[in-house]
This record gives sequence, C-alpha cells and structure tokens, in this order.
Amino acid sequence: MKTLNELINILWEDYSSMNQQAKRIHELLKARGENIINDHIAFRTYNFPKIGVDVLALPFKRFGYKAKGEYGFPDKKLYARHYEHPDERNPRIFISELKVQECSKDLQKIVEGLAQQVTDKDVADDRFIVSGRLWSPISYKTYLKLKEESEYAAWMAVFGFRANHFTVLFNALKTFKDLQEFNQVIKDSGYPLNSAGGEIKGTPQDLLEQSSTLAHSVEVEFSESRETVPACYYEFARRYPKADGKLFSGFISQSADKIFESTDNKKS
Ligand code: NI
Repeated sequence: MKTLNELINILWEDYSSMNQQAKRIHELLKARGENIINDHIAFRTYNFPKIGVDVLALPFKRFGYKAKGEYGFPDKKLYARHYEHPDERNPRIFISELKVQECSKDLQKIVEGLAQQVTDKDVADDRFIVSGRLWSPISYKTYLKLKEESEYAAWMAVFGFRANHFTVLFNALKTFKDLQEFNQVIKDSGYPLNSAGGEIKGTPQDLLEQSSTLAHSVEVEFSESRETVPACYYEFARRYPKADGKLFSGFISQSADKIFESTDNKKS
C-alpha cells in the first residue's frame, strides 16, 4: 500500500462489494450531479492488545493521521477514538473496540478463541485492515449467543477487519435542502433507515446530525451452515460550524451509540 488513496480505495472496494446499497446510493447521488465527500470510515475490533484500536490505527498513522477525540459507550461496553489527517479532504477514521473484560465469561472465552487465531504475520500484513475474518467460522448458534449479549461482538466475529461503514458528508451535497429531505430521498429509493433514537441523531446545537441506512443482510459462512445476517450500513453526516466558524470535526457519543444499532436487525 503505497498511498493513502490506494488504502481508501481498497477499503471502499471491499465495503461496497459487500454492501451493495452503498454502491447504489453512491450512483444515485452521482446521477443527481453530486460530488461525494467521505466524512469518515469506521472500524470495529475487540480490545486485545494484539488487535485493539492502536493496532488498527497504524496503517492510517503511517499516512499522517493523528489521534483526536476519545469516546466511551458504557451501555455497549465500547471505547472509540477518531483520527484526522492534516489534509482535511481525507476522511476521518473512527475506530471502536469492545471492552472484552467487561463482558460475560462466556463471551470472553469465545472472542479470546477468535483473537488467538490472529497471527503476528496477519497483523503485520499491509492489508490487515481489510483482511476480514481471520479465524475459522463460528457456528450460527455461537453467533446468536454472542448477539444476545453484544450485537457488536457478533458482527465482529462474522465480518472481522474491514470498514464497517463509510459516511457521506451532507455538507458537500448541493441538491438537498437539509438532512430530512436527503433521508426522504434515500427512503423513497428503497433504503430503510435506522430509526433507533429517531432517524436523525443529534441536532444543529450538537453541531452534528447523523443518519444511516439499516445494514442490509448478506449470506455468510458459519461452521455448519450458511445464514443471512446484517452486514454493513451507509451513514450520512451533516456538520455545523463552531463559534470560530470552522466545522465541528468530532463525534457525539450519544448519537454514535444509536448509530451502532444499524447492524442490529432486532432493533429495526
Ligand atoms: Ni459513523
């Protein structure tokens, strides 16, 4: 991976080939003459030192990204950090991790078993950030058990290391009055939105409004069967200026907490 663009393109290819709705929404916007700017790319992981936030951030730090905000999600037992590039045209990177030690012993045992299968060679690989599931498939029964406790843990067990979502920056769009109107067009085009906590998370006073599609389902391999489970979603973000006139660049924990539920089909 020689350039940041190359890395982002590989991540987009992987993400959009799994998440056809992102590809179609992309095309829908382009057909309206829109130029799409990517606000952020999000990743998930478990907080083992070998594969935690710090490790997932490495390929981005190599291209000049710097750690900015930190976020806690106590209910979901998650910690997250976001990274920014000195060239603001590059997307923010948002990496979260499950605080495994706060979960049940059963969950700990399962995900430790997955993380153990990740080798140093896997982590050192150029394409680690887009390597997907680096462990043998779990059973569908184990998936459902994980999901009962942590939808996040279950998603990670199935999809592994890859972009969980890309995000369209609303501010760069020219043919929509507001995020409400944008959302309506997305829904009218056949893409249901995540309505947990309302379709739009955050307010202009929070300086960030976000919405997202519900993850569409894909067929994946389990140890004894193939099953259809929610995969990735597409997110939309509108940023507002701070007192100094510059656009707010961080994230709002309360809103992100609900956005995480875009991969939870029980909540739809
Ligand atoms: Ni996001």
